Amino acid sequence: MVRVTGVADETPTVRTIRFEDPGMAAALPGQFAMVWVPGGGELPMSVMAGDPGGAAFTVRRHGPASTALYGVDRGDLIGVRGPYGNTFDVREGRLLLAGGGTGMVPMMRLAMRVADPSRVVILMGARTAPEVIFERAAAALGEVVISTDDGSRGEEGTAVDAARRLLGSGRFSAAYVCGPEPMMAGIVAEARSRGVFVQASIERPMKCGVGICGSCCMGDRLVCSDGTVFDGDRLAATGEFGAIYRDKAGIARRY
Ligand SMILES: Cc1cc2nc3c(=O)[nH]c(=O)nc-3n(C[C@H](O)[C@H](O)[C@H](O)COP(=O)(O)OP(=O)(O)OC[C@H]3O[C@@H](n4cnc5c(N)ncnc54)[C@H](O)[C@@H]3O)c2cc1C
Ligand code: FES
Repeated sequence: MVRVTGVADETPTVRTIRFEDPGMAAALPGQFAMVWVPGGGELPMSVMAGDPGGAAFTVRRHGPASTALYGVDRGDLIGVRGPYGNTFDVREGRLLLAGGGTGMVPMMRLAMRVADPSRVVILMGARTAPEVIFERAAAALGEVVISTDDGSRGEEGTAVDAARRLLGSGRFSAAYVCGPEPMMAGIVAEARSRGVFVQASIERPMKCGVGICGSCCMGDRLVCSDGTVFDGDRLAATGEFGAIYRDKAGIARRY
């Protein structure tokens, strides 16, 4: 159990919850925690950097468990297990980091780990201007490109459109992406078609988080323990990535 040390609004529906936990503070980019809100359920969350020695979650209010986490206040206790999962393979040269929505969390941690703003372009995709998160913090970590579906901020169009333009410049040695799966699938396909090394951090329903229950399977892989970060070639080979997801009853459904 850890005590919440601070809460900050990022957008009208997204909040960052800070807490102190040295283990979580040392989480690698792409790693996640299983987070329990007493009375509110447990769900997986990417681990974000917090204050020195601390960590944070950035949660979008959606259904029951995320709304419970969104509603915690300074001084409340939450349960955290982890960090779980693997991390990104950071290549040399110029890197494109593309995040959609709260998929920006692992991209921010990755940009912090690269720690060389001259090598990093951070593509932030959102539906509308108020949904853009971490813009100021991202500007200290690399060149920022914003795309919104409705053109209310930055380039008009999807993050896939913006990634296509950026990758088309031929300046990138690798691309990393986290966000809604159709967005990730589009960017992975763009990068692979140009021979650019690409990795994506995948979301699936997770219960145990440690490779036991099988609820997070994608093809023959377990996203919680084999991932969450996978190479583009491996994702393309699954036949599921960007095409099929499993609902919380484990039933395969098409996007
Ligand atoms: C590795 C990983 C990292 C994530 N990181 C973030 C993040 O940083 N910020 C963020 O806002 N969201 C993140 N998510 C998504 C988040 O875990 C939830 O899926 C999302 O918030 C929706 O849950 P819900 O309670 O709002 O709603 P619903 O989709 O209505 O869920 C209903 C119930 O199902 C259960 N449930 C929901 N999602 C999951 C899940 N993925 N696994 C197991 N049980 C689940 C919960 O008990 C929930 O109350 C991440 C998901 C994964 C897999
Ligand atoms: S969540 Fe249980 S095996 Fe991945």
